Amino acid sequence: MAQQIKVFAPATVANLGSGFDLLGLAVYGAGDEIIVTENNLNKLFIEKITGDENKLPLEAIENTCTVAMQAMLDELKIKTGFNVAINKQMPLGSGMGSSAASAVGGVFALNELLNKPFTKTELIQFALEGEYIASKGYHADNIAPCMLGGITFISSTQPLKMHALPCPDNFYITLLHQPVQILTAEARKILPPHYTRDIVIKQNAAIASFVNGLHQNDFESISFGLRDFIAEPYRKNLIPHYSELKNIAMQTGAVGYNIYYSVPAVFAVSSEKETAEKIAHVWKNYFIEINCPCLCITSPINKEGVKIIS
Ligand code: HSE
Repeated sequence: MAQQIKVFAPATVANLGSGFDLLGLAVYGAGDEIIVTENNLNKLFIEKITGDENKLPLEAIENTCTVAMQAMLDELKIKTGFNVAINKQMPLGSGMGSSAASAVGGVFALNELLNKPFTKTELIQFALEGEYIASKGYHADNIAPCMLGGITFISSTQPLKMHALPCPDNFYITLLHQPVQILTAEARKILPPHYTRDIVIKQNAAIASFVNGLHQNDFESISFGLRDFIAEPYRKNLIPHYSELKNIAMQTGAVGYNIYYSVPAVFAVSSEKETAEKIAHVWKNYFIEINCPCLCITSPINKEGVKIIS
């Protein structure tokens, strides 16, 4: 019988405020379920994709999952073919790490079927090749936490260098997605190519404060670090109700609030589960009142990352 494996790759929060392209964490409650089955055709085939409203490409050379898998097969000089079935359990273009989850799930599943020629950390280089076709950039702030779980700090992509940061047990995320699709590549194009010294200093202070806060379990420092001067000022206008959602979160007791990824989702950080759930409740009510749909999830940090289901 053909070898088969089913894996789950979680949604991620990238940037985390001040860590543009450098920081990310994995969450529970959304992600990609991927089944990879060996075939005898010496090629990668996408059998089916569900949960994507027929929006994702079924061509293997266009999908982040199979592009990443092909990069790994090329490196190993293996000709064996595999069929792939993807079940998206998060909205596309949602700013929740959808393309990264597909790339990570694909290479992780393949690695297991090939008896683990690579470590999870080594697999990140192949997943990055997949993510590149979606975002037109090499940034591992979504790939790394999806693969490894926890909060990751990417200090360099070429060569790839990353570091696991402490994950306070009482660090809770509330995320909100509204049905607006904005692709990462588009959200990157609107950012300026250069920043002033003043902005660079403020951003450096924020990211240092965030990392320090994680090490000290100091949510005041984390709060200072959840601010962003590089992307938020330009991207927030693309997100409907951005300021109202921020006011609600901060008035309900959030430690910080920012754009979840590149856009259009947003997130709040809380230092208690009850506050995180209360923010979700108030945000949902806000959307009920304006008669608009939204997806709202509350999660602690997912420390396990991509995993085998069966
Ligand atoms: N850091 C990227 C961005 C998104 O904000 O454009 C995820 O890699």
